Amino acid sequence: MASASALIDAHGRTIRYLRISVTDRCDLRCRYCMAETMQFLPRERLMSADEIASLAECFIARGVHKIRLSGGEPLMRGDTVALAERLGSRLGNGLDELTMTTNATRLARHAGALAAAGIRRINVSLDSRDPDTFRHITRTGDLARVLDGIEAARAAGIAIKINMVALKGLNEHEIAPMLAWCGEQGFDLSLIETMPLGVIDEDRTDRFLPLPGVFEALSSRFSLVRDSFRTAGPARYWQLTGTSTRLGLISPLTANFCDGCNRVRLTTEGLLYLCLGQDAHVDLRAALRDGGPPAVDAAIEAAMARKPAAHDFRIAPGAAPAVARHMSVTGG
Ligand code: 5AD
Ligand code: SF4
Repeated sequence: MASASALIDAHGRTIRYLRISVTDRCDLRCRYCMAETMQFLPRERLMSADEIASLAECFIARGVHKIRLSGGEPLMRGDTVALAERLGSRLGNGLDELTMTTNATRLARHAGALAAAGIRRINVSLDSRDPDTFRHITRTGDLARVLDGIEAARAAGIAIKINMVALKGLNEHEIAPMLAWCGEQGFDLSLIETMPLGVIDEDRTDRFLPLPGVFEALSSRFSLVRDSFRTAGPARYWQLTGTSTRLGLISPLTANFCDGCNRVRLTTEGLLYLCLGQDAHVDLRAALRDGGPPAVDAAIEAAMARKPAAHDFRIAPGAAPAVARHMSVTGG
């Protein structure tokens, strides 16, 4: 890809990573993510797989080399596997990596096809390995199905990273066992601080668990060696000695990570959000309908000037969310 055509924002950051929320729907209702009576978009507002693929092509043409499919739960859509196959055909030919973030409830059925499409790594959201706690946090979830999904992905040769949102008084005591389990299984583990995205039924402050304290407790039980590995993302990493497991800490509240941000996010309605924690966005579906790929390219180029320098997250008692939209809309 000629560097002249790369996407560079007003703060000098090169954008190479696109996350696509293919649906805002989810079969779970994780307490920190959604209200129990979450209203989803009417189906006709969702982009077709063709539209998503066309927009993705415009990004690949501008040097985006990594795409993550997320949601909501991406496998809620019947055509997500076909979309993955289509994007997967660009691997080695524009794209370096295609990944997915999933809750794994439907992964057992699709893991083989996703691997065949070229997905080599997935992130699985798993906040508890206790069936009752899992059900409590997700309000509806069946842990056994998720574990089956994880097994199927492993069997298909897909590397697995567990995403665990650290929740005070809910799964706090499961963090160390989760790390030990990931070590045994050969999975990576990322711990995530709750982020103030969208209105939920509870006050997030009650569940907010700052990761620096969590890490201190972990380092007294495990041998963790700081890993120089860095993505352009928010995580800092440690290696769990004697295993292949890498521990990541995603601390948007206690450590700002925006300087090296290389990503933008596309919603299922075709809105390109330039930051997870800000409202700046442009409508790429409208551009696609009005003027096809050239209009999309111009819209993406113009959007670069509007990418915010940083998010503006704060967790304070009674504070309004930083942005009204939920993680499931913007994509994790
Ligand atoms: N804060 C932090 N993490 C969240 N996730 C969903 N909503 C939030 C939130 N408000 C997590 C999911 C998933 C990842 C993409 O983001 O658990 O693992
Ligand atoms: Fe669904 Fe993920 Fe939100 Fe849980 S965190 S409700 S699995 S989108």
